[in-house]
Amino acid sequence: MYSKKVVERFQGVLNSPKQFSVGRFDPKDPTVATGMTGAPACGDVMKLQLKIDPDNNRIVDVKFKTYGCGSAIASSTMFVEMLKGKTIEEAKLIKDKDIADALQLPPIKLHCSVLAEDSISKAIEDWENKCGNNLTNS
Ligand code: FES
Repeated sequence: MYSKKVVERFQGVLNSPKQFSVGRFDPKDPTVATGMTGAPACGDVMKLQLKIDPDNNRIVDVKFKTYGCGSAIASSTMFVEMLKGKTIEEAKLIKDKDIADALQLPPIKLHCSVLAEDSISKAIEDWENKCGNNLTNS
């Protein structure tokens, strides 16, 4: 059922997780935004962290931890690629369909890419809250 792309990425993560950006940044780092989402349908969980240059709102690095199916893990590796180097405004344009299309996810697995889009939205929300707080505090 999985496409070749999903299988390759899933195996890549198993073999060399660091190379595929599995891990976490220090959550206390003020330039790190975190988005965590769970899929009620299957119980899988995805945590995405963005390291952001506050001067230009550009994502300089990405890490994730995903407890879930092969499609969820492959979707996570895909958003790492899609997010690195983008500004927050550009990141907002990434949709679950982009991830699903890139991985050729079958219809039954589309919710795995929805989980990825939700994680991105939550991380952006976290960043915008942090920026708002910074502005309020300064
Ligand atoms: Fe749960 Fe894929 S089956 S995210």
